[in-house]
Amino acid sequence: MMKTVQRGALIVIEGVDRSGKSTQCKKLVESLISQNIKAQLMNFPDRSNLTGKLINEYLINSDCKLNDRAIHLLFSANRWENVEKMNTLLYGGTTLVVDRYSYSGIAFSAAKGGMDMNWLKQAENGLPKPDLVFLLTLNHEEAAKRVGFGEERYENEAMQKKVSNIFSQLAKEEDNWRVIEASDSIESLQAILLGHTLDVIARVAKQELKSLHF
Ligand code: TMP
Ligand code: MG
Repeated sequence: MMKTVQRGALIVIEGVDRSGKSTQCKKLVESLISQNIKAQLMNFPDRSNLTGKLINEYLINSDCKLNDRAIHLLFSANRWENVEKMNTLLYGGTTLVVDRYSYSGIAFSAAKGGMDMNWLKQAENGLPKPDLVFLLTLNHEEAAKRVGFGEERYENEAMQKKVSNIFSQLAKEEDNWRVIEASDSIESLQAILLGHTLDVIARVAKQELKSLHF
């Protein structure tokens, strides 16, 4: 009998800057691997590729001038550059834990104002659709106390509060989001994320990956 290959799950963690996404993503990958589940970390923006280098310059250099729509499309292009890699890994059975995705693209651009929400979403349509999205929520006062806050463009109170509201709005539009309060300890948060992730990995293994369709 032919053995069917089971695909990995596409898991995304979203949240405001300094909400603990990167720590949780890393730990989640480690936990999965320790249970003999193939898993890999990805993060967006992916600063290693061509578009990523431009994006990095825009984020770290406040003198860098770039039209809001142009940078929006660059963030999106940065995801499109990785589609083949993502599909290959997922269909090869590897679960991807992704630190930020299309929802960050939409939320941060929408928070700037002046751009239509449907236009912002359009660039993301067709990308692999996450099987599960965690939204880590953390009030601004807590996030701002964490190491490094304020170093990059967008890391200011007005922007982060708007982004946080838009994330909450996006979370209500689909049923594959889990909103998690992120002020708990790293360990208790990790236990919650791992539980949900293991459920989803088992549930989607034989399902086809969907595409984003806003
Ligand atoms: P990072 O802190 O996760 O490296 O992300 C850098 C910043 O880029 C962060 O403030 C969120 C922002 N961002 C966007 O504006 N659009 C996007 O599509 C992504 C992935 C991130
Ligand atoms: Mg950041």
